[in-house]
Amino acid sequence: MTRPRRRLVVGNWKMYRTPSQAEALARAICDPVARTVGDRADVVAAIAPPFTALPAVAPIVRLHPPVALCAQNVHWEDEGAFTGEISAPMLLECDVRYVIVGHSERRRYFGETDATVAARTAAALRHGLTPIVAVGETLDERERGETETRVLAQVRAALDGIAAEMLARVVVAYEPVWAIGTGRNCDPAEAGRIARLIRSALPDLDAVSILYGGSVKPDNFPAYLAGGDVDGGLVGGASLDADAFAVMVRQALAEDAR
Ligand code: PGA
Repeated sequence: MTRPRRRLVVGNWKMYRTPSQAEALARAICDPVARTVGDRADVVAAIAPPFTALPAVAPIVRLHPPVALCAQNVHWEDEGAFTGEISAPMLLECDVRYVIVGHSERRRYFGETDATVAARTAAALRHGLTPIVAVGETLDERERGETETRVLAQVRAALDGIAAEMLARVVVAYEPVWAIGTGRNCDPAEAGRIARLIRSALPDLDAVSILYGGSVKPDNFPAYLAGGDVDGGLVGGASLDADAFAVMVRQALAEDAR
């Protein structure tokens, strides 16, 4: 029997919160989430503060094992002359376990390409971090009927050539660019269809958790999970609200029990 896929709720804090503000938000999130999840090993909640806040948030996360620390990016080299970048060994020393790679804001504003996303994904895996590989089409691509080709190309570019046992550790996040931060979330059935398409992209993706991201909130999150193809959420704006984040973690647990 294949391993049941893990539920995952990831809060992407983007460029919000100074270290002291992040510490307060992490405290507000970790207590209720840890109480909600308890010892359910099948559900993980992760928070991704800005790099500068990782050392402040790490001790709080350490006291609440159901919550994991996630970074928003990672460089492919361990060290070197790469101004402005952060490497996997640096993240590991801050207790980081997950890392988002290929977020559309990185692709759009900072020249991230399929090739750099692949290099970052490989570096994360090499160091035992779980990469959350973000893929998704722009509105133009969707309107031109290129959604499937674009998403499949992004998935294949990031994951092709990764050994099967490594691939089992990858998480993929389907995030249509037009749904991010717009309040215009993707229809849950369509997100489920793309999740199935992603699983068909490569052999061995069956056990991989696939998240949906793009204007996820407590009032729409259960509909994504209910379809059975989406295993969790990559949440931006709503993850900065501790109560909303705790509610979404509770929803992931409830849907899992159905
Ligand atoms: P949003 O962001 O929930 O604010 O739309 C999602 C993301 O960018 O990961």
